[in-house]
Amino acid sequence: MKNPAPLLFDFLLFGGSGDLALRKLIPALYRRFKEEKFHPDARIIALSRSELSNEAYRSDVRNALQSYLKSGEWNESCWPAFAKHLSFEQIDAFDSEGFVRLSSLLGNNDERPRVYYLSTHSSLYAQIVQQLSDCNLITDNCRLVIEKPIGRDLLSAQAINQAVGRVFTENQIYRIDHYLGKETVQNLLVLRFANPLFESQWDHNSIDHIQISIAESIGVEGRSEFYESTGALRDIVQNHLLQLLCIVAMEPPSKLDPDRIRDEKLKVLRSLKTMDNQSINKDVVRGQYTSGFSEGNKVPGYLEESGISDDSTTESFVAMKVEIQNMRWAGVPFYLRTGKRLPERLCEIVVQFKEIPHSIFNMSASQLLSNQLIITLQPNESITLRLCGKRFGAGMEVRTIDLNLSPDVRAGRKASDAYERLLFDVINGDPTLFLRQDELEEAWAWVEPILNHWEKTSAPPDPYAAGSWGPSAATLMLARDGKLWREGSR
Ligand code: BG6
Repeated sequence: MKNPAPLLFDFLLFGGSGDLALRKLIPALYRRFKEEKFHPDARIIALSRSELSNEAYRSDVRNALQSYLKSGEWNESCWPAFAKHLSFEQIDAFDSEGFVRLSSLLGNNDERPRVYYLSTHSSLYAQIVQQLSDCNLITDNCRLVIEKPIGRDLLSAQAINQAVGRVFTENQIYRIDHYLGKETVQNLLVLRFANPLFESQWDHNSIDHIQISIAESIGVEGRSEFYESTGALRDIVQNHLLQLLCIVAMEPPSKLDPDRIRDEKLKVLRSLKTMDNQSINKDVVRGQYTSGFSEGNKVPGYLEESGISDDSTTESFVAMKVEIQNMRWAGVPFYLRTGKRLPERLCEIVVQFKEIPHSIFNMSASQLLSNQLIITLQPNESITLRLCGKRFGAGMEVRTIDLNLSPDVRAGRKASDAYERLLFDVINGDPTLFLRQDELEEAWAWVEPILNHWEKTSAPPDPYAAGSWGPSAATLMLARDGKLWREGSR
């Protein structure tokens, strides 16, 4: 294969000394650098209010890479060349001086892709883009990336969209949700739309229900200030979980085109049944972890974490039953669940097919023997189809057979990192895996009744012990429908 041309770009990273930048974004850039090499003039300019010299910043990045890269990814001999692409500038969103300095630093390189990545609190987005505009820092080749959660409700999200929309055109704005960059999410599109076998079964006639879980074993991990103002509904449900739901439930787009795909996702969001107070009480569970055990260690409860107030009602767990009101999905419940301090880090989508109408075999645990498609995004990416087969030997013993549909995983190939994929989609100008303004606002409009209801209610979240699968109310919610959560990677 011909070597691709070395990549030439300016990547400006606001919030460049923050957790996300050091943990995920710079490692993603480093991985691609090792694979593909950058043009000698490519620049990564980290920006933040911290007082740091270039040398101090590079040293922080070096430490972060050594801590956060997966084993075997760090390469000492690559570091000096990578470090040459990296620099640091102090900037304050409320002080134009830094933006004037940035302007002279950027010079007249208008022809190269320039990415502004805002990895700051979303309340700063409007201010930063205004400064960029006032200092004439927007070129036709500019792209703006904004991180979730974008706003904290519909109104604030609309205000941000308007503010960034005054300065950038919609096709320059990349609203990132890193779950869409995960290899298995894209594989799910291929599985659904390239295999008539699945597509013909992908509806209420064949599917009993769908579960989507994003479980984390970690707690708030020093992000208490962020988490207190966010909670699981804003942090995971409004974006990652709803995006996964859209990919599973959307109609086939007419072609693989960014707007055709986003049109179809939007239609799913518009078909979600709106929740009222009664359905929220019945079909949404919010929980907060108490002390318990995580990976064998005793861990504190949410209220005992540093930086969390004693009477906090912020939810660290949400489970909900969602309905999609359209011809394909009428009557098929979608159960969504996310939580911190659950027994393991696991993200999976379970498509539970209906039982056969009449069994000629002795299948007492028939529910367990029904076909399942298990799409795992974490900890390892894989797709497994659970079928029934006969065990060798006398009689007709039926047992489950797991067909692994991930040849790349079997061959030992690693899935590419989600942020790496997405950052280079931005540099190459491909918005397919990013959210459009209308999608983002529709998702906020749908979660807003839940946020409002919780704000008014005096009931605290349901407690669950760290290391358990969440409050018993989440189990009961499925039990009411005669179903069970698939608990863990068994
Ligand atoms: C982020 C959330 O968007 O996703 C975090 O803000 C969460 O709270 C993280 O831990 C999980 O991402 P991943 O890719 O590690 O599952």
